[in-house]
Amino acid sequence: MDKGKIKIDLSNYLNNDIKTDFAGYQPKILEAINKLYNSKDQTEAMTGWLNLPHDKKMYKNITETSKKTLDEKKYEHLLVIGIGGSSLGAQALLEGLNTPLWSRLSKGKRKGALTIDFIDNLDPQIIRTVLSRLKLNKTLFLIISKGGGTLETIVPMLIAKEWIEEDFYKQCIFVTTEGKGLLYKLGNEKNIPMFYIPENVGGRYSVFSPVGLLPASLCGLDILEIQKGIEDADNLCREVNLKTNIAAIIALSAYFSYASGKNIFVLMPYSTCLKRFVDWFVQLWAESLGKNTKGSTPLSAIGATDQHSQIQMFNEGPNDKLICFLKINKHKRDLVVPDFSFESEELKLYANHKVGKILNLELDATRKALGERKRPNILITMPELNEYFLSQVMYHLEFATALMGNLLGINPFDQPGVELAKKYTKEALS
Ligand code: PA5
Repeated sequence: MDKGKIKIDLSNYLNNDIKTDFAGYQPKILEAINKLYNSKDQTEAMTGWLNLPHDKKMYKNITETSKKTLDEKKYEHLLVIGIGGSSLGAQALLEGLNTPLWSRLSKGKRKGALTIDFIDNLDPQIIRTVLSRLKLNKTLFLIISKGGGTLETIVPMLIAKEWIEEDFYKQCIFVTTEGKGLLYKLGNEKNIPMFYIPENVGGRYSVFSPVGLLPASLCGLDILEIQKGIEDADNLCREVNLKTNIAAIIALSAYFSYASGKNIFVLMPYSTCLKRFVDWFVQLWAESLGKNTKGSTPLSAIGATDQHSQIQMFNEGPNDKLICFLKINKHKRDLVVPDFSFESEELKLYANHKVGKILNLELDATRKALGERKRPNILITMPELNEYFLSQVMYHLEFATALMGNLLGINPFDQPGVELAKKYTKEALS
């Protein structure tokens, strides 16, 4: 069955003052694509995330573990402890596809899949509240850390261990690097089931490894649809045809905008479910590209909510942004506005319209207003918000980030700027 396609519209981008040269940059993009794909098997290049769409064995292992866990019916809740790239991708997938209200649904509505909570900070109130709200003996703990010893992950894990009367480690799965770090060592000693993050996959590029896929599967998402989505996206990313390579189009638009003084890159989907997806993107873009005093600053916005907040700034503030809108063509479980026009003539305007359709009309209207003021913006449209399309968009954004790094002449896979504060914290603790 034809699933439809993700589309990108540049009409509000090309008609303003940004100097663009898509055709002229084609050879550079070709070179960057080749460089990325040719290095995907090298450890030091950190491009192993390009192998993830084709790792059938990983999908099989995750599906089997998740099925076995759910069939046993031992657990009702999943608590993911991890931070940054070891948390945000899973949050993006789960909130995006199961809605942020998933854990409030009945077990029947969840079809037996687990509720989910994340601890991704050292906020004592949150740690305490999450732990006290869950039935701890019915909770599976998923501890995720590529390095295996991240402070913000280990500390809540130790608190959770103390809160549990039973043997905590029997209720754990670790996701970490094979052969290295504290979690791996503990996992071996205590016989904890472990999934591994390939050495050449960096944290913020790890959503399609067990880091994102294991929680997704335990909470009822169809990870085989995710696999199809990123496999199809991967095929498009290999193409140098700038009409179809969405990642290259995003990277070049962002690059030309940045070179024309637009220092801010706004990602603005029209859906509350995509709030965490934007957080994931902000981390990906910021940690990958903010280097050597270069990089456009990523900014999060949600439509239509931010039409009553940041849009004033986007329309009439400094013209220093490229806004990337994200539209869901057909909203799931849409609602129709009832006709109460007999109570007031003014209500006739809304009667019988679909809510998702009104949301999309608002997006079109906002773009039109921005376009008239020569505020550059691009539009990505996905046919539906489902596993197949959301994962595709995420893969395109990962690839666009990697290409943007190449265009800027920086390494998008390291993060030297976050190491120093970590060192000072450890020094202060000891
Ligand atoms: O993208 C990254 O590399 C970081 O954001 C890491 O994911 C984050 O620092 C957590 O690291 P770790 O997975 O080693 O606990």
